[in-house]
Amino acid sequence: MGAMEVIIQSDLRQASLLGARIIARHVQGKPDAVLGFATGKTPLLLYQFLVQMHREQGLDFGRITAFNLDEYIGLDPSHPASFHSYMWKNLFGHIAIPDERVNIPNGMAPDIPAACREFEETIKSSGGIDIQILGIGRDGHIGFNEPSSSLTSRTRIKTLTAETRKDHGEDFGGEENVPLHVITMGLGTIMESRTCLLLALGKAKARPIAQTIEGPITAMVPASILQLHQRAIVLLDEEAASELKKTDYYRWVYDHKPNWQKY
Ligand code: F6R
Repeated sequence: MGAMEVIIQSDLRQASLLGARIIARHVQGKPDAVLGFATGKTPLLLYQFLVQMHREQGLDFGRITAFNLDEYIGLDPSHPASFHSYMWKNLFGHIAIPDERVNIPNGMAPDIPAACREFEETIKSSGGIDIQILGIGRDGHIGFNEPSSSLTSRTRIKTLTAETRKDHGEDFGGEENVPLHVITMGLGTIMESRTCLLLALGKAKARPIAQTIEGPITAMVPASILQLHQRAIVLLDEEAASELKKTDYYRWVYDHKPNWQKY
């Protein structure tokens, strides 16, 4: 099976809820699932829905293994803008996941290349990632694989673009305080996840989403590599879908999914 499935939902709430349902269903079917998480604004509501499902329906995350896409280099995990802090504040702290099941790249590692290799090894020894949640940058990045990233890259150090530092400036009280470097899973690493769930919300994502789905596969739009993924689900609100050409077809396909394929 090789497929990119494009699902357009009416708004951010519906898209986030469907994303949470896809994750929840997977965890119900495989309580020791290996899940890949993203940070940023996009998955916040999806995470709120997961927390709600944990609280109200007893969705159990106690046996999952978690990996995160990326982390800033040189930022203490306790820094409020670190992705460690983000994950514990917005998700892990509310779903009773044991500490030792959480894997976030260590931006304070004294030997960054060794830490990157170790991270890859840990993914492998956990059996590989079942579902990787992704957001997309305005420049088409996934993880922090900025344009011109190798399409087969592994977990490594990357230098953020000025645009990405600007987009994250708010978390640091100004873009000049955003770290220059990050550790990120590579595109090759992400491509090995059994399922990728790319969530994109709002007008600012319309262009990179159109390029990702309907443009050529190119390192200049790193997310476009997902066209080659065995199972990539692209979950959009109307705004993020607004620059796509074949929206009627994507809706038609989704509305006529065979029952056994429905979420
Ligand atoms: C975050 C990450 C990034 C973000 C992207 C979009 O872990 O890997 O690729 O998903 O920068 O960020 P938001 O969601 O804030 O627009």
